[in-house]
Order: sequence, then structure tokens, then C-alpha cells
Amino acid sequence: MDKLLAFLKTKRNPKVIVLTGAGVSAESGIRTFRETGGLWENYNVEDVATPEGFYSNPDLVYEFYNVRRKQAKLSEPNRGHFAIAELEELFGNNFLLVTQNVDNLHEQAGSKNILHMHGELLKARCFECGTVIDWEGDLTSDDKCESCSGPMRPHVVWFNEMPLYMDEIISAVSDCDLFIAIGTSGVVYPAASFYQMASSKGAHTVELNLHPTGANFDTIIDGPSSRTVDMLLKELRSVYTN
Ligand code: OAD
Repeated sequence: MDKLLAFLKTKRNPKVIVLTGAGVSAESGIRTFRETGGLWENYNVEDVATPEGFYSNPDLVYEFYNVRRKQAKLSEPNRGHFAIAELEELFGNNFLLVTQNVDNLHEQAGSKNILHMHGELLKARCFECGTVIDWEGDLTSDDKCESCSGPMRPHVVWFNEMPLYMDEIISAVSDCDLFIAIGTSGVVYPAASFYQMASSKGAHTVELNLHPTGANFDTIIDGPSSRTVDMLLKELRSVYTN
């Protein structure tokens, strides 16, 4: 933490990016992907999270996301989500949250400047015209787009598809002063490369993880995000309040 504070004392209005992964929602009861008991232990990624899987068995894929959507709707944000929203309050327009999570717990906790690079469970997208609409209930092959009557799919990014908002994210990551990765295993690209991109442009990089990944972040804080984001928030407030 000392290294981080020394760095930040040289920056008056730092541009801050937080990248979150499934670990942030774990304490809200949403399963992560790669840990023991994670989703990819029970499902084959190729079957439920790729275009090829969808075309070979669409009903399985619709059902996979219908179950995820129901679980996400029953979940509530935890202290980690709220502390991230408080970081946004501290840094204002200089703060951007990039999340790989498809739940809406960040929004429920008050985050506003947020980009869902892997899409959103509570939205559906038309295969034909790309219209995106809010979607609360189950989605099936019978559901049709209200604009063009085309078939609808979950508004989530599958493997072998391009994540969303990439130009905006890369431009922000390349220009930030402080990059904070929270609760992500750092094995899925391009998100996994963001900290190196930020570091190569001079940013200070921070990892908050229950089990730090071993990647070369400048500052590493281990523990559950419900505790560690608060610790970080307290330190940053000590530098930037007043
Ligand atoms: P993973 O399941 O790969 O990793 C979860 C990370 O969260 C691990 O590094 C854990 O150590 C950490 N973790 C668990 N509980 C935590 C807690 N309470 N506090 C802090 N950290 C905790 O999830 P992601 O990195 O989000 O993509 O996975 C990235 C992408 O892979 C997902 O967006 C999804 C998945 O396949 C798609 O579906 C396209």
C-alpha cells in the first residue's frame, strides 16, 4: 500500500479504472467460473458459451442463461460493490468501471459510469438487427424482436466473439493513472491484458483478489473484496479528501 500511496501523492486528479470479475459477486452468492465449485466445472464452455454451441443446441444455451438470469435477480450487492460505487463518488468523472460480470449488482450498488464488456444478463439482443432490449424473464427461441421480428439471443458475449466497448476501454486503459483489478482470474483475454497495457503507459496497477493471480501488479492486496475494496477506499480517501 505504501508504494501506491507514494505514487498517488504525485497525482492531483488521477484517472482511475476498476476492472471487475466474478470474484466481486461471489459474496452475493453468484458462482465464479474457474474456482472449485465454479460454473465451468458443471458446464462445458463450448456447449453453452460459444456461437457454435448455440447453433448446435440453442435450447441448452437459452436455458443456461435463463438459470443465470433467475439467480442474478435473486442476488443483492455486497459491501465490495458498494465500496466500488463509493470510489466512483471519490473520483467523479475521472472514474470508469469496466466489468466482465453480466449481473447488474454494480448498478444496484450505485455505480454509474460502467461498461459491461461481456454483456448483460438482463438484456436480450436481436440476431438480425442488433436491437438490445431489457429482458427480465426467460428467453426462448419463440421470442422475436419487436423491431424486425428476428430471433433474440441473450445479450452476453460468447467465447470467439468480440467483447463490447473495446475502443472506449482501450483508450481509457491507455490513459489511466491507476488501474485496479478486482476478483478476476486474469485468464480471459482481452481483459487479462489491460493491466499490462496500463502499466506500459505509466499507470500504477493494483490487484485485489481472494487468491492473487501471481501476475506482476505493482500493489497486491489479498482477501475478499467485501473487505479489501473498503481498505483501498479508506487509503484513497486519506489522500484525496479535502
Ligand atoms: P473466474 O472464475 O475466472 O475468477 C474469479 C476470481 O475471483 C478468482 O481469481 C478468485 O480468486 C477471485 N475471487 C473469488 N472470490 C473472491 C472474493 N470474495 N473477493 C475477491 N476475489 C475473489 O472469473 P472471471 O475472472 O470473472 O466470460 O472470468 C472472466 C470471464 O471468464 C468471465 O467474464 C466469463 C468467464 O468465462 C464469458 O463468459 C465470456
